[in-house]
Amino acid sequence: MSKVAIVTGGTRGIGATIAKALLAEGYKVAVNYAGNSDAAAAFTKETGIPAYKWSVADYDACAEGIAKVEADLGPIDILVNNAGITRDAMFHKITPTQWKEVIDTNLSGVFNMTHPIWSGMRDRKFGRIINISSINGQKGQMGQANYSAAKAGDIGFTKALAQEGAFKGITVNAICPGYIATDMVMAVPEKVRESIISQIPVGRLGEPEEIARCVVFLASDDAGFITGSTMTANGGQYMAS
Ligand code: CAA
Ligand code: NAP
Repeated sequence: MSKVAIVTGGTRGIGATIAKALLAEGYKVAVNYAGNSDAAAAFTKETGIPAYKWSVADYDACAEGIAKVEADLGPIDILVNNAGITRDAMFHKITPTQWKEVIDTNLSGVFNMTHPIWSGMRDRKFGRIINISSINGQKGQMGQANYSAAKAGDIGFTKALAQEGAFKGITVNAICPGYIATDMVMAVPEKVRESIISQIPVGRLGEPEEIARCVVFLASDDAGFITGSTMTANGGQYMAS
């Protein structure tokens, strides 16, 4: 029987490409999104993958949404925590709201999605949790104290939970993409974006497919011995030890 995968923030950008790649591998796939219903409808029309609307920043909404997905598709075997936002500002200009929105979505969102799914994975003695962190959680980024803190937190969460999951057949891994050509990066002012690309040794932005292939591998049975790892895919921009 096909395994069931859910990708948060799976209607656009990297998440949409991950969802399509998992579908192509034979998984039953669901995606979630926050509010852009037009993008979600277009995604479902193109792929046939059902899209469910709730915010990963809301614990109760996650528990309710996950229950609906499991009623529709079956118990979730693979969770890809991909939903994320930016609220970039230099620290002297950042507002408490910009801090909180990013922490609530990019860090607490990972807790909110994983916690309701965890017990079922433990009972079934199988699970794959893949957290989409970022190069900027590894190296820090000016203008992103909020985002870098949340994404670094995702790596710590991954390492701690991997230890709890290992003896229950659950792997927990993080992927740290570098700058990938999606709406998120296109929102960076052009002059700054050009300066960022000049710092990438391969000389270009990454493609969402290059991250999706990492997810497909970490979700597979071949990756059963890999847990607590941080996989970097950043065109050589930062080489973490
Ligand atoms: N790399 C290099 N230089 C950067 C930079 C970056 N990522 N971010 C800002 N700077 C530089 C600017 O070029 C500018 O330099 P000059 O003074 O020499 O012109 C200086 O820092 C100040 O920047 P701004 O003039 O733009 O200041 P601002 O207050 O108007 O805006 C900002 C600040 C909102 C942070 C804006 O600079 C910005 O959006 N920077 C991009 C930050 C960034 O890298 N975000 C990543 C978004 S994509 C993502 O997050 C995905 C992922 O995981 C990789
Ligand atoms: P994107 O194009 O902006 O797409 C973001 C997706 O997340 C959308 O589907 C969006 O839904 C959803 N989302 C946002 N907030 C949500 C919430 N509270 N609840 C549920 N869904 C929510 O972003 P992306 O570039 O593909 O990035 C995907 C992930 O990769 C993020 O975690 C990001 O931090 C990380 N990442 C990106 C890059 C990069 O260069 N692009 C690099 C490293 C890491 P709506 O359409 O409804 O808004």
